[in-house]
Amino acid sequence: MSYARVIGTGGYLPERILTNAELVKMVNTTENWVETRTGIRERRIAAPGERTSDLAEHAARQAIDMAGISPQELDLIVVATTTPDHVFPSVACLLQDRLGIHNGGPAFDVQAVCTGFVYAIDVANRFFRTDACNKALVVGAETFSRIIDWTDRNTCILFGDGAGAVVLETASEPGIVSSHLHADGKYHELLNVPAGVSANYEQVLKGEAYTQMQGSEVFKWAVKALGDIVDETLQANGLTKSDIDWLVPHQANIRIISATAKKLNMDMDQVVVTVERHGNTSAASIPLAFNEAVRDGRIKRGQKVIMEGFGGGFTWGSILLIY
Ligand code: UT7
Repeated sequence: MSYARVIGTGGYLPERILTNAELVKMVNTTENWVETRTGIRERRIAAPGERTSDLAEHAARQAIDMAGISPQELDLIVVATTTPDHVFPSVACLLQDRLGIHNGGPAFDVQAVCTGFVYAIDVANRFFRTDACNKALVVGAETFSRIIDWTDRNTCILFGDGAGAVVLETASEPGIVSSHLHADGKYHELLNVPAGVSANYEQVLKGEAYTQMQGSEVFKWAVKALGDIVDETLQANGLTKSDIDWLVPHQANIRIISATAKKLNMDMDQVVVTVERHGNTSAASIPLAFNEAVRDGRIKRGQKVIMEGFGGGFTWGSILLIY
């Protein structure tokens, strides 16, 4: 059985920056409230006409360049997204075409909202573990701004758009050490877009299919689930807190991130934080943060990294990897 290791990372943010100062003019909030309650100062918003596949392509090309491979060598593409261009085909298939790969290996999307990238890495890793692939592209990409009600202060202050990517290659040692995935659909109403193709389609037609969230309930659940998943990850691998070099968390709220870091006895300088500049980019947030810390030299070869995420569903999970 083979393992998967990361050989390239990439990230892309749309040009348009939406600051807290601008939000104050849109909804009843203050710059201070948003920054102190969430840690967010600004987020990026995709241009009109800019699609999830566009963001994904930028991030993917960067990761492929860093990996030093040709796109044709990729025999698996997995895209984590909740905001695909179309109902179908998948963003992964659109991306495969953009990359000039034809008659290639499998390409499909994974939908687990903010835990999407963790789920996608887990799925891709299983292809490596069964020797079903040699090089894979895993992307998290979102245009979440399209499913936000920009008059709802409970949600619009939080989210942004972006994409992050990794290229994985087969290896004789990990790489991806373990993955731990969970879901509990009982809580689907606490964080959702209650409209789609087969339910409340009229909201979609009116352009009113928006994210709804019981923020403080989600917050409590996220802190508990992310704390537990850290313990589960350490126990499964016989590791202690001090063995972990880096935490790359989903970027939803700095207070949730700090709580998980505390649970790991980690200083915040061992935690990759982008939430102040990116907001919550859902499935893109973990690979965007990972890419930043790899490219600026913080995360070094041989170091142990925990990625962890929590999102609608509820879904939550973690990845332990050796970079
Ligand atoms: O990525 C997927 C998972 N998503 C998350 O993890 C998000 C989790 N939730 C959160 O990050 C936080 O719950 C929020 C940032 C959404 C809200 O922060 P909070 O500290 O939980 O605030 P709250 O909802 O308990 O509201 C506290 C007060 C309320 O006023 P009263 O009732 O105390 O008078 C709200 O009406 O803050 C008020 N409030 C706001 N005030 C100014 C709520 N939103 C805003 C706002 N600006 N944007």
